[in-house]
Amino acid sequence: MQIIVLGASAGGGFPQWNCNCTNCAGVRKGIVKAVARTQSSICVTGDHCQDWALLNTSPDILQQIKATPELQPGRKLRDSGIAGVLLVDGQIDHSTGLYMLREQKQLLPLWCTDPVYEDLTQGNPILKVLEYFCGVELHHVPLDGASFEIPQVEGITFSVLPLASKAAPYSPHREHSVDGDNIGLTITDKASGRRLFYAPGLGARDAAVLRRMREADCVMVDGTFWTDDEMIGWGLSDKTARDIGHLPQSGAGGMMEWLSELPAHVRKILIHINNTNPILDEESPQRAELERLGIEVAYDGMRISI
Ligand code: MLT
Ligand code: MN
Ligand code: ZN
Repeated sequence: MQIIVLGASAGGGFPQWNCNCTNCAGVRKGIVKAVARTQSSICVTGDHCQDWALLNTSPDILQQIKATPELQPGRKLRDSGIAGVLLVDGQIDHSTGLYMLREQKQLLPLWCTDPVYEDLTQGNPILKVLEYFCGVELHHVPLDGASFEIPQVEGITFSVLPLASKAAPYSPHREHSVDGDNIGLTITDKASGRRLFYAPGLGARDAAVLRRMREADCVMVDGTFWTDDEMIGWGLSDKTARDIGHLPQSGAGGMMEWLSELPAHVRKILIHINNTNPILDEESPQRAELERLGIEVAYDGMRISI
């Protein structure tokens, strides 16, 4: 299967418009060795297919499409390489791009869980507003792990694992998560059996996630924060990474420890990286630590074949 990272940053992007942390100010001034990144999204398809599944719709989707010829194959007057959209949560950084796709000529095929559908028709009623434009063809994703396909996206299947993370702030279950607020996805190549596990928001370890990660050939997982108190340390929030549903990389029980338990052949990639995270600086000791552990840091335009 083929994967393109469209946006490797967390909400806000990198550099964030109003941020002057070391990374954001440093990349703007050209004194920190780092590349800018847009907000969180990937696309994926089978090896012999021109139509892609868009996993999350970033506020930066138009810029991402311009940067990705595969998503504009130009087969007819109005055309797109995006055959369907699949959301892993209902957060702003993963759903706002739906507005930018409103010129779609037919209903936009959309896969999401029931709790995300509720949030996007109530707390943040994007899908109601879209009814005045293209509208969506809604598909409810099964939470029991049953495999499903996205028509036209040939050669791959999807299977969901509900995750412990957080619903969006406008969700009635922000403080009392329900299954389906956040999901991880196993994407399987039908011909080779090879698998990607994708989970840009992952708040806690559990046996089911570890099993999915061990079964995969490549994991692309939550790289939001390096430390649990990263936002507190900058004086930007009073919440820890874990409080808002993101397992930090460092510290006991952190993502690095977890990824180190995976079999050596599993390719390990961090994605959804917050602009404060020191791993964005290619010359930082934190980045060197990841390199020693064989953990990669996703960037916009990264192409992966598994
Ligand atoms: C998150 O992943 O926690 C959210 O997307 C944060 C945000 O963008 O507000
Ligand atoms: Mn996010
Ligand atoms: Zn910043």
